[in-house]
Amino acid sequence: MSSLDTFKIEDSLMVRVFKKQKISIERGAGVYVWDEEGNRFLDFTAGWGVTSLGHSHPVVLQALIEQGKKIIQNPNSGLTYSPARANLLSVLREVLPGHLTHVFFTNSGAEANDAAIKLARKTTGRTDVVSAQGSFHGRTISTASATGQSKHRDKFNPLMPNYRFVAYNDLAELKRSLDKNVAAVILEPVQGEGGVRVPSEDYLPQVEKLCHGNGSLLIMDEIQTGFCRTGPMFMTGSLGVKADFMTMAKGIAGGFPLGAFAVSDWVSQKIQIGDHGGTYCGNPLGCAVAHAVINYLLENRIAEHVQKMGAAAMKRLSDLKAGHPDIISDTRGKGLLLLIDFHKESIATKVKDDCLDKGLLVTQTNGTGIRIFPALNIEKQELEEGLNIFEQVLALVTNKSSII
Ligand SMILES: Cc1ncc(COP(=O)(O)O)c(C=O)c1O
Repeated sequence: MSSLDTFKIEDSLMVRVFKKQKISIERGAGVYVWDEEGNRFLDFTAGWGVTSLGHSHPVVLQALIEQGKKIIQNPNSGLTYSPARANLLSVLREVLPGHLTHVFFTNSGAEANDAAIKLARKTTGRTDVVSAQGSFHGRTISTASATGQSKHRDKFNPLMPNYRFVAYNDLAELKRSLDKNVAAVILEPVQGEGGVRVPSEDYLPQVEKLCHGNGSLLIMDEIQTGFCRTGPMFMTGSLGVKADFMTMAKGIAGGFPLGAFAVSDWVSQKIQIGDHGGTYCGNPLGCAVAHAVINYLLENRIAEHVQKMGAAAMKRLSDLKAGHPDIISDTRGKGLLLLIDFHKESIATKVKDDCLDKGLLVTQTNGTGIRIFPALNIEKQELEEGLNIFEQVLALVTNKSSII
């Protein structure tokens, strides 16, 4: 098979929901991937923030093989116990914010948010959910309903009732929106899909106070930010926010599809047998891989590494912004979740396409942004290599920016 055959088959047989880049990835190792013709690309996307240790990391492969040889899916699914799941729960206990005492596993991020919303309604006996404009919480009908971007909502009306939106990072507006019908407020610690928006330091701790003062639960969506993406293991923990639910996915298992939600002891006591479930929830294979990934993050002090690499990358991006004020409007982010915002969407598209031509994979975000979220264990010289390509592309695009 060649890339051309692959393009033809996927374009004719797959439901078209993505505008794909013309590159057919056959394999990956670390921060690099190769297409079917053997061309190498540096990956600044990490499978959409998922391959936290890079592609096909040896600890991920070892866990897959060792657990795969033992058992992949439990008999009677969640109705039996599993040492692989118990191991993962034990390491999660070490890294989760201390007040989050109980965990349930899902297959994706959307599913974790969906469950959190459903169980928050049950726990409080209330109906309404507040989320932020610009947020992204998933593509199921309830998580699309909680997503504050019209492009993910408007075509699917009627959505779920009793959802309302407030401006992100605006405490006064949140306060006005809270009443006795609000079961939960769901927020990302940094809005990822909405354009890597970092709120002010005191925003989330104050949100927690407002929620609890109103008898509403706080759901922190750490699906993109969790597991060291922004530096600390979780921002919920580093900010000392006592969320009632915290949802996770993406980096948790370094590429294996797995999600989870954690709850406080109080919430866990309100959840009863039969309230939730799922065929694959906590399958031993996913649990074994996640266990290996989290151990690697801890043993290799990846949180510190991310802070160092993130600071170096941000410094480079700020210099690039200063050198290209004609095309760049802003650079922002935290840890290794970074974004360069351009004045025009057409320029961001050109930068993304030119980066691909020069062997660098980046993601266009919220129209005008280019997001950089590579593997968390990326080495300094790999980061430099990608940023050098980015710089070359910016120089070319700047010269042509008046006609783009
Ligand atoms: C903050 C956030 N929440 C939820 C989701 C949905 O996760 P999934 O695609 O695994 O359903 C995403 C995915 O990008 C996300 O970034």
